[in-house]
Amino acid sequence: MQRDHRNQRDHGKLDEGREHGMSVAIYPGSFDPITYGHLDIIARAARVFDRLVVAVLENPRKTPLLGDDDRADVIRRAIEETLAPDVARRVSIERFDGLTVEAARHHGAGFIVRGLRAVSDFESELQMAHFNRKLAPGIDTVFFMTALEYAYLSSSLVKEIARFGGDVRGMVPAAVAERLEAAAAAG
Ligand code: PNS
Repeated sequence: MQRDHRNQRDHGKLDEGREHGMSVAIYPGSFDPITYGHLDIIARAARVFDRLVVAVLENPRKTPLLGDDDRADVIRRAIEETLAPDVARRVSIERFDGLTVEAARHHGAGFIVRGLRAVSDFESELQMAHFNRKLAPGIDTVFFMTALEYAYLSSSLVKEIARFGGDVRGMVPAAVAERLEAAAAAG
């Protein structure tokens, strides 16, 4: 059994993204918009991995309130606003289209990071993790638990509140709140 494992490793199937002794992870998402919950996951993952790529899905299925450039830009500003400089230095923001596992390979990531707010997230996340493992056996999904104070946050509810003119400060960083207010005002 152990021998089979070693053989698979020798052929690179079970050991992706661990080159040069660096552990690289990708955190994919729609981030429409990024919330304090996402930022909490980024901070936690950035403590564990040497490099974290926040991968923003282009043209997500649900029509995004913020465009691709805006979503990536507010993430950049939110990370600068909320993370310590030595942590932020290890986080990069990239856009991607297509499969998460392909984006992971492209960036040399051996791990996919996802956040769990509650048990209800688990079922769909588990399914996605299994699909991704089938597609890329050498890439593991790693789950981080969101801090309890952010467990209620969801991008879609934040968007809804902003659309109806509600105050979203405290749910998202200031840079995001400003963009949401502007987008809502523009209709
Ligand atoms: O922030 P979200 O909307 O929960 O993120 C979902 C995301 C982007 C991680 C997921 O939809 C995804 O990975 N999309 C890329 C296409 C893909 O790889 N699909 C197969 C995963 S099972």
